[in-house]
Amino acid sequence: MQFSAKVSDIAKQRAACSIISADAKNGLSPSGKALDQLSKGVISKILKRGDLGVKPGSTQLIDLLDGPSERVLVVRTGKGDITQVEFRKLASTSATAVKRFKDATSYLCELEVEGADKTWQAQQIALAAGLATYRFTQCLTDAKPYPLTKFTLHAPERKQLKAIQKGMEIGAGQAVGSNVARELGDLPGNICTPNYLASEARALAKKHTKLTTTILDEKKMKTLGMGALLSVAKGSDEPPALIAMHYKGGKTSEKPIVLVGKGITFDSGGISIKPGQAMDEMKYDMGGAASVFGVINALVELQPAINVVGLVAAAENMPSGRASKPGDIVTSMSGKTIEILNTDAEGRLVLCDALTYAGKYKPRAVIDIATLTGACVIALGHHATGLYANNEALAQDLLKAGETSGDRAWQMPLWDEYQPSLDSNFADMQNIGGREAGSITAACFLSRFAKEYNWAHMDIAGSAWKSGAAKGATGRPVPLLVEYLLGK
Ligand code: BES
Ligand code: MN
Ligand code: ZN
Repeated sequence: MQFSAKVSDIAKQRAACSIISADAKNGLSPSGKALDQLSKGVISKILKRGDLGVKPGSTQLIDLLDGPSERVLVVRTGKGDITQVEFRKLASTSATAVKRFKDATSYLCELEVEGADKTWQAQQIALAAGLATYRFTQCLTDAKPYPLTKFTLHAPERKQLKAIQKGMEIGAGQAVGSNVARELGDLPGNICTPNYLASEARALAKKHTKLTTTILDEKKMKTLGMGALLSVAKGSDEPPALIAMHYKGGKTSEKPIVLVGKGITFDSGGISIKPGQAMDEMKYDMGGAASVFGVINALVELQPAINVVGLVAAAENMPSGRASKPGDIVTSMSGKTIEILNTDAEGRLVLCDALTYAGKYKPRAVIDIATLTGACVIALGHHATGLYANNEALAQDLLKAGETSGDRAWQMPLWDEYQPSLDSNFADMQNIGGREAGSITAACFLSRFAKEYNWAHMDIAGSAWKSGAAKGATGRPVPLLVEYLLGK
């Protein structure tokens, strides 16, 4: 999508569709009024009929036939002040409604939003427009992308143009990153293998000078002693890969922020095999890895002056004669031994070695992202990402980035009291706790490998994809992470 911002006169601005708003009393925004006058009151007459829904975010399309604006989309705002949650809704429903036109101009920056500035508004509009036009087409013989390729944001005043441009660029970058993550997530497990992810990383590095990629294969992992990661890949015919993407935007001396993504390209559960229902959705078990790819893509687009390493621990979890068995004990790269009581708790096994490996970068902070536990979905549902951290400032930074971007997380406890559930009779620890607090005990497991640095863990099991009729990857938490990194 090509985004631009300008002070546009709706009476002259050519557009396939212009997006304006009407409040609870059918009061039009300034450009809405101007367009209504130009079209001899047709907009206000149609609104009076009561066709436009009363719920904030309802939309109505009106054909103006031959005006400079061929159509107008009216979107309903609520009573009183517009909240940020409401505005996001307006931005996304209007974007969805115009994606079948080849271009659109949004006048929604004319609205005032509680506690938000024009940069924020522009960011939300661009992010919503970018997300709305995502369509998975790679495996369809006859699907075309949506026509919308040009999106203009109207700046009410010239002095607001810079702020709107800035927000627009951030939102557009977040959308590009999210859509990269969605594409990788939606790809099936037979295409998106650890090897596929590795070649994506190599291809990306070839295109961008600020990016370099190194890939550790099975042999290298063996020499490093990554017994936990390797124990997951053992049962699969697909070899694992530890992918490191270095984005170098800052000074060489500056320590990086490291993102670690769980990249289980398919999670069958292994010998502790999962039940069949919705097992196809375990192709999304590389959602953490996908978000790391998404963030790296956003960074090469936005070019911030920071250093970031994206680490992806990629493997497939399968049952076979060579697979790990319940009761097996493995030695992780840290030297600690782990009793595998359930081969379906594989995410923490690949992540613990990746976390130990991350230490070698002397990182400012390490953030891992993982579709780690079904228990997190039970705890938080699909709206919030579960957040854990061993450093409160880092936790607060990430929570704030979630609020700003609209890609929200909720902090969970990482108390020592939960740790003993991982005690094993035969090894330094076991890979599962009891039935209770499953998302927390998984985080506790990871925390044991992240003692050397500031660390946060994001359990995206509930937020990375949608099930049901709208099945598909969401691209979360790319907006949150990009927001966080731009503030560093
Ligand atoms: N990838 C799953 C977690 C998951 C399950 C995410 C369903 C989203 C939806 C993970 O590898 C897993 O299987 N976790 C187990 C852990 C258990 C064996 C302690 C789980 O959540 O059931
Ligand atoms: Mn599993
Ligand atoms: Zn898994």
